Amino acid sequence: MLVYRTFKELRKFLDQKTSEGLSVGFVATMGALHHGHVSLVEKSNQECDITVVSIFVNPTQFNAAEDLEKYPRTEKEDLAMLKASGTHVVIMPSVEEVYPPDLVTPEVDLKGLDVLMEGEFRPGHFAGVVQVVGRFFDQIEPNRAYFGEKDFQQLLVIQEMAQVLNSPVEVVGCDILRENSGLAMSSRNLRLSQKAIENATIVIEQLNWIKDNFQGESVEYLKSQVANAFHKKPDFELEYLEIVTAHDLKPVQKYEPNSRAFMAAIVEGVRLIDNISIS
Ligand code: PAJ
Repeated sequence: MLVYRTFKELRKFLDQKTSEGLSVGFVATMGALHHGHVSLVEKSNQECDITVVSIFVNPTQFNAAEDLEKYPRTEKEDLAMLKASGTHVVIMPSVEEVYPPDLVTPEVDLKGLDVLMEGEFRPGHFAGVVQVVGRFFDQIEPNRAYFGEKDFQQLLVIQEMAQVLNSPVEVVGCDILRENSGLAMSSRNLRLSQKAIENATIVIEQLNWIKDNFQGESVEYLKSQVANAFHKKPDFELEYLEIVTAHDLKPVQKYEPNSRAFMAAIVEGVRLIDNISIS
């Protein structure tokens, strides 16, 4: 496995490989890797000749300096995990490498995908995501790029970005990997106590309950029942619960096919997000 810190070195390697007719898959990460990340690498390995993984904790997508500081950094373990997963190349650039002073970032109209849910609670977050993913797409020029449905809103935002910018990259969505308990795997879980991890299953339990009851009940009722369930767990704060169409994230009031439920909850100062198809 090759590890590069500059785009120039990476480009030289990729130019050689693409001139041999090999295809390139890309997996963007912020490190603190777990099996969810590895599942994206595996999918890329199945579909592409070369898999490039980036590890970069992107400062422009964090709205709280404290969250950026506390983001787990586990470089040694990450590289071991990527090597074991069959990753061919890792790019770990510095902030200066990703954001040189003369960098021009195109404005992308995300057609409202960026203003609700994560966009509402983390203003500027998606502008930062679009900026960094756009920069990686420009430098790596992958054929395909793999993103998890764990961050479903992010996946739609990146698909929209690729379309608006006329990007040749095919953006591929991948299933959410979960612990046996149902808890969605997340780098942020590393910051939770054992007790919080056990109780965090409330998120998927409530999402599953919504799925089971969506057809017969109004969204208003579902939301009030979930709010009640959270009141019984005072350590958890329900930040939002939204039931929206899967293609453009517009809120629905009652059953509609192809809907999704999205939730964000805070425990021990850590934001947990999850979502589920409820059609
Ligand atoms: P990060 O949170 O490290 O996630 C990297 C990729 O792994 C994302 O596409 C995310 O959706 C996916 N992922 C995370 N947990 C997953 C799980 N349990 N199952 C399946 N996929 C999962 O998302 C980011 O980083 C950043 O915003 C990034 C796109 C790298 C831009 O900085």
